[in-house]
Amino acid sequence: MHRSINRVILGDCLNVLDTIPDASVDLVVTDPPYGAGMDFANDKLPLPDLIAFTERWVQKVVAKLKPTGSLYCFIDGEHIGHFQIIINKHLVFRKIVVWYFEAFFNGFHENYDNRSEFILFYTKSDAYTFNMMKEPPSTSMIKRWGPYADKDGNIPYETLTPSMRARQSKENYDRNPTNINRGAYQGNVIRLKRVRFREHPAQKPEELIEKFIAISSNEGDLVLDPFAGSGTTCAVAKKLRRKYIGIEMHEEFQGKATNRVERVKVFKRLNDF
Ligand SMILES: C[S@@+](CC[C@H](N)C(=O)[O-])C[C@H]1O[C@@H](n2cnc3c(N)ncnc32)[C@H](O)[C@@H]1O
Repeated sequence: MHRSINRVILGDCLNVLDTIPDASVDLVVTDPPYGAGMDFANDKLPLPDLIAFTERWVQKVVAKLKPTGSLYCFIDGEHIGHFQIIINKHLVFRKIVVWYFEAFFNGFHENYDNRSEFILFYTKSDAYTFNMMKEPPSTSMIKRWGPYADKDGNIPYETLTPSMRARQSKENYDRNPTNINRGAYQGNVIRLKRVRFREHPAQKPEELIEKFIAISSNEGDLVLDPFAGSGTTCAVAKKLRRKYIGIEMHEEFQGKATNRVERVKVFKRLNDF
């Protein structure tokens, strides 16, 4: 096993990434510096320098991804266009995921108050892991389809609208019918509370990272975060029985991340109890 695996390494990812074997990583989930004005290394770079820095780390990270690998990259509204142009050169764009959070104070009145962050989802090829999840059924779904559900919650083909029926045969639909109890497939807007400052001012909610890791990797896969911060990606990867590599150049955060990951309890499978 490579010596970086299951560690949060202290250092500049531009150097540390060179020590990781090419095409060895299944999934990258990262929240890089993007000039949001916080006092982190590289986080206050002027735009041309930020673009040059981003091009360098993206190129290195892409080399580490397996051909079946995926990348999730957090980004704000101001810089998303620049990041897309850079990442589009290397990977296949799949979706922008929006993390929506509620206001926790009145906000600022000279512009729309910020209630979202974006996550760019890319894959290296068309052959990628995607363990689709279901969300709880929405009230609109229950209201619209509830009256037609059979005793198991399935919506009969005959009750679908003509345009829905035109898009798939009965035979195809009956193999995987819409079911009122299962809810819809995971959508690209995810509503979750922000994390209050615990270990890091930019700490992300574990529930959000859990979705990305559960959907885009399998047990035993290797997950990389080159901008580990307080170690959220690594902690969740460990919890979900994935291997991980974190890189963090700020000594205080690297220490906190290492301690946090050590405290993580691995999720048990039902038959482990
Ligand atoms: C936005 S924060 C990540 C927060 C993380 N998502 C969490 O939940 O705690 C970005 C981190 O990248 C680190 N960083 C910036 N430039 C770096 C570099 N070249 N190599 C390694 N880490 C770097 C910063 O110190 C900062 O902690």
